[in-house]
Amino acid sequence: MLKSYLNENKAFVEKNIEKYLSELTYPKEISEGMKYSILNGGKRIRPILLFMILELLGEKKELGIPSAVALEMIHSYSLVHDDLPALDNDDYRRGKLTTHKKFGEAEGILIGDALLTHAFNILSEKNKGLIDSDKIVEIIGKTSSYSGINGMIGGQLVDIKSEGKIVDLNTLKYIHENKTGKLLKLPIEIACIIGDASNEVRKNLEEYADLLGLAFQIKDDILDIEGDFESLGKPIGSDIELKKSTYPSLIGLEESKKLLSEIVLRAKSKILDNFDKKDSKNLVKLAEYIANRNK
Ligand code: IPE
Ligand code: IPE
Ligand code: MG
Ligand code: MG
Ligand code: MG
Repeated sequence: MLKSYLNENKAFVEKNIEKYLSELTYPKEISEGMKYSILNGGKRIRPILLFMILELLGEKKELGIPSAVALEMIHSYSLVHDDLPALDNDDYRRGKLTTHKKFGEAEGILIGDALLTHAFNILSEKNKGLIDSDKIVEIIGKTSSYSGINGMIGGQLVDIKSEGKIVDLNTLKYIHENKTGKLLKLPIEIACIIGDASNEVRKNLEEYADLLGLAFQIKDDILDIEGDFESLGKPIGSDIELKKSTYPSLIGLEESKKLLSEIVLRAKSKILDNFDKKDSKNLVKLAEYIANRNK
């Protein structure tokens, strides 16, 4: 069952996050802030995707531990900064006060920076002896690119610049592909590097990842309207308050739901048409889970 797979792997990645973070002690505001911001109940979808693809490629998931922890550090940093007053100005994340609300704004900025930079330390140091050094270099290259101007940061900038405006669908597509899509595509690409995937396998998985990323953000935007704080752990209505450009704001809620179903069907067929049913069943279920989630 997907649910037990998700729970098991969530616990597995959290154990390793704790292990790596226990090596950091001083200054305490930063090490405690890093722990607070990452060990607070995220779904761990990005590490789980990495493990699923490694398994699909016949590799041990242990080979992905440093990358899984680094991915979750970068994702958590992106949330810490996303919630800052200068960006989305949100007070709750994963059911708890946001990092800047808990530790102060300057500290929040630095805690985010520390999560981002330490992720690269983990990729270079903890991968040593585990995977080939040319693969480590490739992973670091991809990670820096997808987290920065050619990825999450690019998307975040266009997202905040589009507040209060009606943007065209191409701009909205750019925002989604970059602010959310790239960090969801990254684990799939890292797994392909570790597992020496063929070009054809890589291409199919990347197309699946693109669809999954788009579905993920459309659902996030729907939940911002229809979700509830209790399950989501973050405020509802934040997008409307900031006049964000989202699929619901551009094409309407019902059309967004239709589009989401279509994208999920396409993501599922990408896998069903190209991979062995038994090896890839979790990837199919994950696409459904993303569309049906309430958190
Ligand atoms: C939230 O990501 C931000 C987006 C990219 C839409 P998640 O929904 O994966 O957040 P957590 O990690 O489970 O809290
Ligand atoms: C931001 O999207 C995604 C990143 C942090 C890169 P949102 O601003 O919609 O994410 P939430 O809703 O605050 O989690
Ligand atoms: Mg945002
Ligand atoms: Mg936000
Ligand atoms: Mg959102």
